Amino acid sequence: MRNIMVINSKGGSGKTTIATNLASYFATQNKKVVLVDLDPQGSSMAWLAARSPARSPIQGIAAFKKSAKPPSRSADYVILDAPAGLHGTALSKIVRKAQTILIPVLPSPIDMRAAGDFIAEIKKSASVANKKAKLALLANRSRDFTNIYWELDEFLSHQRIPFLTMLRDSQHYIRGADRGLGIFEMAPAATDLDREQWQPIVKWVKSKRSQP
Ligand SMILES: Nc1ncnc2c1ncn2[C@@H]1O[C@H](COP(=O)(O)OP(=O)(O)OP(=O)(O)O)[C@@H](O)[C@H]1O
Ligand SMILES: [Mg+2]
Repeated sequence: MRNIMVINSKGGSGKTTIATNLASYFATQNKKVVLVDLDPQGSSMAWLAARSPARSPIQGIAAFKKSAKPPSRSADYVILDAPAGLHGTALSKIVRKAQTILIPVLPSPIDMRAAGDFIAEIKKSASVANKKAKLALLANRSRDFTNIYWELDEFLSHQRIPFLTMLRDSQHYIRGADRGLGIFEMAPAATDLDREQWQPIVKWVKSKRSQP
């Protein structure tokens, strides 16, 4: 069982988008997938509720509810969607749930500044410091060849954490959010570039480098 968390203290950085797309990717690979929503906002659970039962199954756990049960041990992948705004002991506690952690960052000065502080803090959490959890970064909602993207690229390249990929700003993610779909479940011709941009994420989460 692999536990993969998507987290960033900054709201709206793409945690739910990455978590749901990753869950949908593994589901299409016939893996047993559990999507754990740790955010009382419940966006991952809303995505799952919109998902057609004809699609590859994903089990949802609304972990923010007291009645929530833990994921079944027979799951291949447990994808955890974290809430924004976590710091201090709440952050250290939640980080303990994951072996692999993805941090999406948006190309904006405010997001990069907040990400710098967040990365410094998460690196100090016991799990990460003791190598019980591995971190990676990704640029989200980016437009190639814009100055702010190159600033983000430069910033993420200097964090001493793997910087995996850039995901473009794309309507596919917005439509997918509404329909309970991931880009790997949409028309391949339309989502070719998005699929390509996801390859480094898929490769990293499957590799030993992303595991403690
Ligand atoms: N690569 C992308 N292209 C286009 N839209 C995107 C992309 N990534 C995220 N979005 C959109 O940006 C908004 C915020 O994304 P998302 O909800 O995934 O962020 P979040 O970090 O989970 O937010 P919160 O902190 O509120 O939980 C959503 O409307 C989502 O559809
Ligand atoms: Mg979210």
